[in-house]
Amino acid sequence: MTTREMQNEILRLKKGNDICILAHVYQSQDILEVADYTGDSFAISEAAAKAPEKNILMCGVRFMAETAKILSPEKKVILCNSSAGCPMAEQIDLDNLNRIKENNKGYAIAAYINTTAELKTGCDVCVTSSSAVKIIKRMPQKDIVFIPDCNLGDYVKRQVPEKNIKLVNGGCPTHSRITVKDVREKREAHPNAVLLVHPECRPEVVKEADFVGSTTQIMDLAKESTATEFIIGTDNSIVQHLQFSCPNKEFYPLSMDCYCHNMLVTTLPNVLSAVKLQGGEEIILSDETIKKARLPIDEMLRLGSE
Ligand code: 13P
Ligand code: SF4
Repeated sequence: MTTREMQNEILRLKKGNDICILAHVYQSQDILEVADYTGDSFAISEAAAKAPEKNILMCGVRFMAETAKILSPEKKVILCNSSAGCPMAEQIDLDNLNRIKENNKGYAIAAYINTTAELKTGCDVCVTSSSAVKIIKRMPQKDIVFIPDCNLGDYVKRQVPEKNIKLVNGGCPTHSRITVKDVREKREAHPNAVLLVHPECRPEVVKEADFVGSTTQIMDLAKESTATEFIIGTDNSIVQHLQFSCPNKEFYPLSMDCYCHNMLVTTLPNVLSAVKLQGGEEIILSDETIKKARLPIDEMLRLGSE
């Protein structure tokens, strides 16, 4: 089967089986082309909440599928490739969180959406990279522990100095691979390029950026900008997608090492078996977990809306 034949079969089957395909923008181009919604973590969470179809197929990582299940418990939610996890989401468990709470009495817990459903049951609000600054600013509490990404947390802390934010040790292994040396080398090689960086990068890298934003915010800015050269400081799939959408502009990866292998495990044949209802993993969460984990996600959608 060619890629095109496989895509046509997926489009036919998803309609027949009442499936909505959600794909994070780190997925490959062949997958993005068959998705109903693509975007950053916030956009696909919102799409999951609104999708009219009975079944949701998540092309992304496990915490994204869990978020979709929490928002649409009556639907069948399938994670397209069951081995697609996010290492950051596993860095803190409920026992760790209870210890953090014990040591920080009176503090609210703000959790990056890249956490397990179980962990979310103990949190006050979730944030995504595109909504974190806005949500933390709008939170009624002043004292906040931000988990688990200390790089995103550091960025938020600088943008919202009026809040007292404590950080923990955690973060994205993919974005942490980018160094200041990469910035120096790429700036030297492309002196006219605009440097766009994800806030999961180390603070010393973020400080050097011309723009800091989520994957979608980076893509939107590059597409709308009158500049013609960009250095991209996030997963290198974004370099490829941007080059595809803007053939008259040049995009350079900030680091050759910035690939999220967890995002890459999902393939178009995985999507095909999942729309046949033969592959992927159905996300099962207890009613109790769904009820409790929904509270910080609803708070995120409420505080993050315009
Ligand atoms: P966003 O798409 O929300 O920017 O997040 C990037 C990421 O690392 C997802 O896991
Ligand atoms: Fe997790 Fe980082 Fe991969 Fe995103 S890029 S899924 S945070 S490991």
